[in-house]
Amino acid sequence: MNRRFNLISLKRWFMVLIIVAVAAMPLHAFAAESGADRPWMNTSLSAEDRTELLLQAMTLEEKVGFVTGKVNNYYGFYNDGLERLGIPALQMADGPAGVRVANPDVQDKKSTALPAPIALAASWDTDLAKKYGDLIGQEAHNTTHNVVLGPGLDIARTPWGSRNFESLGEDPLLASGMGAAYVKGIQSNPVIATAKHYLLNNQETERFTTNATASERAIQEVYVRPFKAVVEQADLGSAMCSFNQVNGTYACENQELLTNILKDQIGFKGFVMSDYGANFSTVESANAGLDLETPGEPYGKWGSKLLEAVNKGEVSEQTIDEKVRRILLQMFDKGLFDKPVTNTTINAKADGAKARQFAEESMVLLQNNDNMLPLSDNKLNSIAVIGPDADTASAAGGGSSLVNPTYTVSPLEGIRKRAGKGVDVKYAAGTDPVSAGDAFNGPSAVPSAILSPANAQKSEQDYGTDQAEFGLHAEYWTNKDMEGDPELVRTDNQVNMNLGFYNYEGFNAQSSKLPVTPTKFNSKMSARWTGAITAPKTGEYQLSLTSLGSAKLYVDDQLLVDNQGATLSTTKKGITLQEGESHNIRIEYRTDFPVQSNHDMGAQVRFGWEAPEDAVDAKMEKAVELAKKSDVAVVVTRTYDSEGYVDRSDLELPNNQEQLIRKVAAANPKTIVVQMSGRAVEMDSWQKEVPSIVQAWYAGQEQGNAVARVLFGDVNPSGKLPVTFPADDQQTPVSTAEQFPGVNGVGNYSEGIFVGYKGYEKQGLSPAFAFGHGLSYTSFDYRNLHVKNSGKGDDATVEVALNLRNTGKRSGAEVVQVYVGNLPTKVETPAKQLAGWAKVDLKAGKQQRVNIKLDRSALSYWDEKSNEWIMPKGKVSIYVGSASDDVRLTGSVNIGSPSGK
Ligand code: BGC
Repeated sequence: MNRRFNLISLKRWFMVLIIVAVAAMPLHAFAAESGADRPWMNTSLSAEDRTELLLQAMTLEEKVGFVTGKVNNYYGFYNDGLERLGIPALQMADGPAGVRVANPDVQDKKSTALPAPIALAASWDTDLAKKYGDLIGQEAHNTTHNVVLGPGLDIARTPWGSRNFESLGEDPLLASGMGAAYVKGIQSNPVIATAKHYLLNNQETERFTTNATASERAIQEVYVRPFKAVVEQADLGSAMCSFNQVNGTYACENQELLTNILKDQIGFKGFVMSDYGANFSTVESANAGLDLETPGEPYGKWGSKLLEAVNKGEVSEQTIDEKVRRILLQMFDKGLFDKPVTNTTINAKADGAKARQFAEESMVLLQNNDNMLPLSDNKLNSIAVIGPDADTASAAGGGSSLVNPTYTVSPLEGIRKRAGKGVDVKYAAGTDPVSAGDAFNGPSAVPSAILSPANAQKSEQDYGTDQAEFGLHAEYWTNKDMEGDPELVRTDNQVNMNLGFYNYEGFNAQSSKLPVTPTKFNSKMSARWTGAITAPKTGEYQLSLTSLGSAKLYVDDQLLVDNQGATLSTTKKGITLQEGESHNIRIEYRTDFPVQSNHDMGAQVRFGWEAPEDAVDAKMEKAVELAKKSDVAVVVTRTYDSEGYVDRSDLELPNNQEQLIRKVAAANPKTIVVQMSGRAVEMDSWQKEVPSIVQAWYAGQEQGNAVARVLFGDVNPSGKLPVTFPADDQQTPVSTAEQFPGVNGVGNYSEGIFVGYKGYEKQGLSPAFAFGHGLSYTSFDYRNLHVKNSGKGDDATVEVALNLRNTGKRSGAEVVQVYVGNLPTKVETPAKQLAGWAKVDLKAGKQQRVNIKLDRSALSYWDEKSNEWIMPKGKVSIYVGSASDDVRLTGSVNIGSPSGK
């Protein structure tokens, strides 16, 4: 069995929830006992002493068992505790956007779905990050967990990353500050936080194999920094090594990363666990510094194999002891022995209120021409809420971090409730729902409104009565050749399907409105869709098939498009269609490539189109009509981002939403776009058409209330972008194929330290919205900059002081950002680098002196020859502003010398 297949089946083993009985369930927690037979339970001893006492009592077999994890569908991920010695099991819950509960017996698997971490990062508020972490820690503990698999400290290196939503942005200092506060919050409970994914885990495409190749300087200055911060500032308990290779060696057997950098250089006292299935060796990983294999047995490389290696002398018993010591130390230190996990019902209302606050603080007002926002209560009689998923709260990142919410509030509900009785709030979807099918590239799917399953042409009046009347007749088989009777027959509104890795019942359904396709069709399958297409306008259309596996499109029984689909790809053909004229359609699809047999890369197929701009289908037309007769139109758009799929290679909004915005904006100039995405999207085809854009991210279960309160001005937006939004996907510092997704399995991090805004500035690329950008309903004035340094050597600090005044009519918060210019050295350093920030709340008209201490790393560089941080001597420019491209005050300071002389 090859490596890849091995770990996929392992993931699936947990993911697919049709599981038999669970024999070996871990004990929840053993009663804490003290006394002579268990001296390590004496709480007056230090964690170190308790650890040594307990370690001595363990046999080699017990120790090896303890460092080898397990998985089942009740308890999720765990290791076996040891009843004989009263060691509680490690019971792990996925983060980082809330607690993912696996056990159906625990509170119906529900917990509070928080805004995605990228949203948290947009708040730039470390106090908030601590509260966020604290809530996760509490809910983890109350849902029987003592380890949280979060936060995610992966730098959002590219704008395409499908897991960018789990990250804390593109800047290492921002990720450090927010990450450290988040970890402190989690660990203020008897719960261990796990910083992941160590290291260079910056893409989903080829995520199990890619060889991320970066310079030592980039590794130290950019990617290691957030991990260093959580170790040094937040006493991190655990770190998770990633799937990928780093400079040619898999992360979980990479001694340089695990031992030399993390443990020796940074001084990490906690334990390293493998990502789930990311340990590929027995001896190498054990000797390189991996401490806990997860999920471990029966699929992993440790357990009995590790015992054998110890017995053969390939791994020493001291090495095993060191692993156990690290785990036990954290368990004692973080209170896991003394405060056992509980199953205590989450206070949905109180925690939901916190989720709303996090969401409100994270929203970024990207654009607000003519002060369109906030909406004014008294001038408003009607609002059109438009958008495929505006009436559900399904916009959330998919994959292991998806949380089953205690309740949800959709944008439509939130707006309706806030607008009150006097305002007529009406809804129109405008396009089909966004789903996992939209995670991959290629032209948008053909809208359901122009498809008919019964070859019958539909008139506009028919539309909206019975959704199932629109779309194509679908037949599914679990064999590749459509043999026998189909095992599933239904109407699919669109052909836009992405099965495989994360298609398992009850799970991805949460992040999409569409019905779930049974998991039996995930890999080996064939499908046929039949019906008719009726063009909404006469013109030239490109009909396309995007697929992995072969797909054929027949129009009036003639083969029009034949996509081989050996890799996920698109084939399109032009065709002239007459308005109102129906044509028979037949699409045949097969998962006939070997790669599709491994469940991860399952069935993927989309019937797409590129249509003339005025080809507006009946569903979109309804939304346009509604917008026309409403005072304002709020278009809620979304992307579908998830772990486990290839990253997108374009940044356009999927499933005809761009056209929807343009058409609605043409009908009503007062159009506001509320965008739900976990990453940057491209806006050039519609940005100028709309006055206001709110970046709402994936805002969690309270998304509707938070959106409404921002739109109506109950909350003055104060979020700032933690990632750059590029003008388009060619204009980024990582736009070559060598850099992303890599060539021949190698991702070359040739941009070095120039990641994110540092790279845009270096290459002279103007983004659509810069890092740090975010508007407010009030305005701020910056004055009287004073920069001083004090102290010597390692105690040298640079501090910036300035006056900030709220010059508008509302209270608001401003994120004052301090960037340093090129450092005084021949070594190339960024023209602007974030060195500190402060989030300041100010009432209208009020002023405050703001002091910001600058981060030493931002005033230093990593010297590859001497393997250390060096702060050069000389003058450095200081830029203070409201965004990386909105500098309000400039100064300078001498660094590297005692008193600025
Ligand atoms: C993800 C981790 C996650 C683990 C367990 C992996 O696929 O990369 O982030 O914690 O699964 O669900």
